[in-house]
Amino acid sequence: MCGIVAYLGDKQAYPILIKGLHRLEYRGYDSSGIAIINGNLNLYKRKGKVEELEKFVKGKDVSGTIGIAHTRWATHGEPNDENAHPHFSQNKELSIIHNGIIENYNSLKEELITRGHVFNSDTDTEVLIHLIEDVQENENLDLAESVRVALNQVVGAYAIVVISKNDNNTLIAAKKGSPLVIGSGDGEFLIASDATPIVEYTRKVVYLEDEEMAILERGKEIVLKSISNIKHTPYFQELTMNLDVLEKGGYEHFMLKEIFEQPHSIRESMRGRLRLGQGIISLGGITEYKQKLMNAKRIIMIACGTSWHAGLVGEYLFEELTRIPVEVEYASEFRYRKPVINEDDVVIAISQSGETADTLAAIKMAKEKGATILGICNVVGSSIPRETHAGSYTHAGPEIGVASTKAFTSQVTLLTMMALMIAHDKGTITNSRHQQIINALNDIPEQIEDVLKTTDAITKDIAAKFKDSRNFLYLGRGYNFPVALEGALKLKEISYIHAEGYPAAEMKHGPIALIDEEMPVVVIAPKKGNYDKVVSNIQEVKARKGKIIALVSKGDTEVRAVADYVIEIPDVEEMLVPLVATIPLQLLSYYIAVMRNCNVDQPRNLAKSVTVE
Ligand code: AGP
Ligand code: GLU
Repeated sequence: MCGIVAYLGDKQAYPILIKGLHRLEYRGYDSSGIAIINGNLNLYKRKGKVEELEKFVKGKDVSGTIGIAHTRWATHGEPNDENAHPHFSQNKELSIIHNGIIENYNSLKEELITRGHVFNSDTDTEVLIHLIEDVQENENLDLAESVRVALNQVVGAYAIVVISKNDNNTLIAAKKGSPLVIGSGDGEFLIASDATPIVEYTRKVVYLEDEEMAILERGKEIVLKSISNIKHTPYFQELTMNLDVLEKGGYEHFMLKEIFEQPHSIRESMRGRLRLGQGIISLGGITEYKQKLMNAKRIIMIACGTSWHAGLVGEYLFEELTRIPVEVEYASEFRYRKPVINEDDVVIAISQSGETADTLAAIKMAKEKGATILGICNVVGSSIPRETHAGSYTHAGPEIGVASTKAFTSQVTLLTMMALMIAHDKGTITNSRHQQIINALNDIPEQIEDVLKTTDAITKDIAAKFKDSRNFLYLGRGYNFPVALEGALKLKEISYIHAEGYPAAEMKHGPIALIDEEMPVVVIAPKKGNYDKVVSNIQEVKARKGKIIALVSKGDTEVRAVADYVIEIPDVEEMLVPLVATIPLQLLSYYIAVMRNCNVDQPRNLAKSVTVE
């Protein structure tokens, strides 16, 4: 959900808009565009980097003192020139830029098509500007009212700015679920997704609230109102942060920003898919392959790194819920070991970037051998989704930190929804159990908000005590074995401390030889199925003077009595523990890395997307 910049004032808009887009590039995007009013509504947009847009507009009319600009992070419609923003209305008199997802765009689009609207893009955004136009024409309303009435028909998340060719004095902005901030300068207004494009022009800002809209007119004060037409008084704030801090949303690193974004990114992963009221899960992207998945003789999860760990959680989920046998394969191994692949196998390829070379090669091979390939990816239009038969995007938003955090929890969320949907339709779980887990999954974002609040300080304290350790051991059983692996990977890739994840019981078959007073052992020990066994493993470590850092359910006393350090996590469904247990392990790794002065966002030797073998 990427970048918005808009300008209304007495300066030329183009240089301000382009500079603003460059300021927002750090957020990751796939295309960009601008629209400027100067008698005409001149609109230019291109796939690729902002430089591509700058090259494209050379020699074209970009004059004017009012305009909008956008960097797109595609959710609906692959990255290309046509799907880039801004989008025109049918009559080309209105234009919009949008961050977010219009969940009910399909039904709105069908209705508008029956009323003669013709669409040029695959996006949900274009539907919204046509709806605004339709309201304006049929109800004879001004632009602000048309936007307000249209937004009352929208389900989903949006940060939008709308302009009209017939009014070069007005910007209309509105927000729900995606950020939008307004800068009020000397005779000028700026609007942006965050303050970075604004701060050099003014530090006087208003952050829009959800379901709030702003009418900005040249030479007038900001008018704020709810989309239910109740006037609001603008609450102006003074920006104090510098640009570098602003870029990371006030956090010191992108990784920390993305760790704290997880309640939001998981809500985005569930948006329009987990329908609590109806008690169903709907994954539109794989509907036509649902039967194939239900009848699969085997599911093969193929991935690398953190995504492979998500696949391991997926193995426990699918086998428990759907009773379909699951294998989890490292893509780099799978592609070369001449695996036996059958036509009734279903492969689930998991990848944040959608460009991991080993994963791409492995699924091409599986596809050639007749398997059905589904994808779970974060980057719309990337290579892996283009290779799969179908799939679901995680909608976690751009993940800038090289160490994957929010992408992992979004992948696990998608796998949970997929397994639940198949289990429900196969009848391998009862309706009441299905509803119970859906309710629990719906509560996860809130529980992660709680975990972030309650474990931030304790993980920082623990980090200070163990930042100079040379080795760590992470132990977990069942659903928490993949969490142990992921916790170990997080630590080693950003702090450069050697760390291993192990099934807790497996420790006796070798790693226990490593235990001494120098060895911190992180044990994920929620009060779940195999709790007593995990407690025994903790005792085994203690008997050898190991230091225990235990993740326990809130109120636990038994582990607390023997562990050296305790981190409490909320009591959730056993199969959902990975979503909450991962959070403190991300924070622990982050704080240790920062205390070791490591380059947290770009660790040495690592790339965000491994596009080579
Ligand atoms: C995870 O923190 C690492 N950055 C790395 O293991 C990553 O998960 C792996 O390279 C797979 O990347 P992908 O999800 O983009 O395919
Ligand atoms: N859903 C819109 C699209 O796919 C907006 C994406 C964004 O937030 O950039 O074009």
